[in-house]
Amino acid sequence: MWDYTKEVKDHFLNPRNVGEIEKPDGIGEVGSMACGDALRLTFKLDKEGRIGEVKFKTFGCASAIASSSALTEIVKGMTLEEAEKVTNKDIAEYLGGLPEAKMHCSVMGREALQAAIRNYRGVGSDKKKIIDGKIVCQCFGVTEHEIKKAIKDNHLATVEEVTNYTKAGGGCGNCHDDIRTLIKEVFLEAQQEEANFEKPTQYDILTNIQKIDRVSHLLNDMIRPTLQRDGGDLELIDLDNNVVFIKLKGACSGCIGAASTMKDFIEHKLKDDVSPKLRVKEVN
Ligand code: FES
Repeated sequence: MWDYTKEVKDHFLNPRNVGEIEKPDGIGEVGSMACGDALRLTFKLDKEGRIGEVKFKTFGCASAIASSSALTEIVKGMTLEEAEKVTNKDIAEYLGGLPEAKMHCSVMGREALQAAIRNYRGVGSDKKKIIDGKIVCQCFGVTEHEIKKAIKDNHLATVEEVTNYTKAGGGCGNCHDDIRTLIKEVFLEAQQEEANFEKPTQYDILTNIQKIDRVSHLLNDMIRPTLQRDGGDLELIDLDNNVVFIKLKGACSGCIGAASTMKDFIEHKLKDDVSPKLRVKEVN
């Protein structure tokens, strides 16, 4: 038997927001009955452009139902920009954790949400997950891009772990060699990134005051206006040895997507525009 947390049991036995919204703004569908898991997510925006109503229908196991229920609770009240930053880790954490072999249920929730947002935005006008790249696992229709993303995001090192997070490899096993190759590729890419990190850059020869100036400009001109549009903000607290200490404010402070905002948005932009060596750290 699976060792489920009390939160998983609660969301499985008393799922929130079950059903389907009539005339929704966005619909997302992932999985298939044949593969054992399927999820249909619908949402409607309120007058402020936030997710006012969100419902799901899931065919699957207890963790698939609990993950879908948790996802709807997490994104309710969020803007689409906030919602698309929700990760499968956020869903698993909300539930107090999921068994390793059931992590793919949280990934399915994130994919359904992204498909629904794309559907709302009319990207490809398709409510189903976009097949992004070559399919590696024919049994479960999992692509190279999805497998590499899962390996990177969750530091996976074995075929078994990849199966737990994506279902790839959980059928006939014909794709196991390809999955091993992808694990190696991600490892080599990470090593290359590390090597680039060691190379001196223009930024390294600046004085500390010049460095702070460059970082402040980017934060004030490019990042704060985006956060402020959603009622959030930030404050630069310090810069020490390539670590940028930032305090999130307003709607960003305490937001479920705060970790992703720091890593995927702020740090990403600082690395691209100022120096690849910069890291961000949140200060409370
Ligand atoms: S092709 Fe991946 S398990 Fe069958």
